[in-house]
Amino acid sequence: MQGLNNKMVMITGGTAGIGRAAARRFYAEGARLCLIDIAEDPALADEFPERTDFIKADVSSADDVERIGHYVAENGLDVLVNNAGITRDASIGKMTIEQWDAVIRVNLTGVFLLSQMAAAHMKAQGSGVILNAASVVAHYGNFGQTNYSATKAGVIAMTKTLSKELGKYNVRVNAIAPGFIETEMVAKMPEKVLAMMRDKAPLKRLGKPEEVAAVYAFLASDDGAFITGATINVDGGIVLG
Ligand SMILES: NC(=O)c1ccc[n+]([C@@H]2O[C@H](COP(=O)([O-])OP(=O)(O)OC[C@H]3O[C@@H](n4cnc5c(N)ncnc54)[C@H](O)[C@@H]3O)[C@@H](O)[C@H]2O)c1
Repeated sequence: MQGLNNKMVMITGGTAGIGRAAARRFYAEGARLCLIDIAEDPALADEFPERTDFIKADVSSADDVERIGHYVAENGLDVLVNNAGITRDASIGKMTIEQWDAVIRVNLTGVFLLSQMAAAHMKAQGSGVILNAASVVAHYGNFGQTNYSATKAGVIAMTKTLSKELGKYNVRVNAIAPGFIETEMVAKMPEKVLAMMRDKAPLKRLGKPEEVAAVYAFLASDDGAFITGATINVDGGIVLG
């Protein structure tokens, strides 16, 4: 990929799943990394021996994001990947307000707070890329995910709005809508559902975190220089129904 070498790339939820795979990909492209996560992983330092900082932080906390802002003021920021996300699944009759609020706070408020912090820096810098984790369930809904699907549809709308507000400052904003990718998040789903999802996808399999990471890297790179406001499905075709 063009133009990622030595760029400062911040990835939320960067210690596991798709975020970890994205970290590996950007690291291999020569980027400097700042990984943000509520969960620490002692193996990080072995896997990323140089060019990598870790900040333990909750993306839904304004205080934590202010702390991240101080880091950015000192170290710079070229690419923000708003990857952190959670599920708290229940059918509508059983979903509690706590389940609703938890998902809204991480998946929507977290993206808002980090994007606001990054936008201020990138506007002043005159360049930058913000990438957001949406989901195919934003397009077609999913049983038990009233909260989650609403946040992911919200992320797509935020992506479009931010791309309009920030384009004139040479800041691009795009989203990825993964289908079902083999991570801890998906491992929580019943095997019966996963078998159905494999069958429904034209490619007849789940995706790999690296396959999502590759698209993040492309969108962040100069190869994606004319793409903004887009949501790219990385889903084996499952969204076709
Ligand atoms: N796996 C899939 O099939 C799939 C499909 C569509 C969309 N997505 C989206 O992609 C993103 C990554 O998914 P994943 O499957 O890799 O998830 P994952 O559960 O494997 O990893 C998520 C990471 O985010 C971190 N995290 C959670 N809450 C946080 C918070 N408040 N602050 C900071 N970090 C926090 C976790 O500690 C974890 O390291 C999510 O936004 C998810 O909604 C995933």
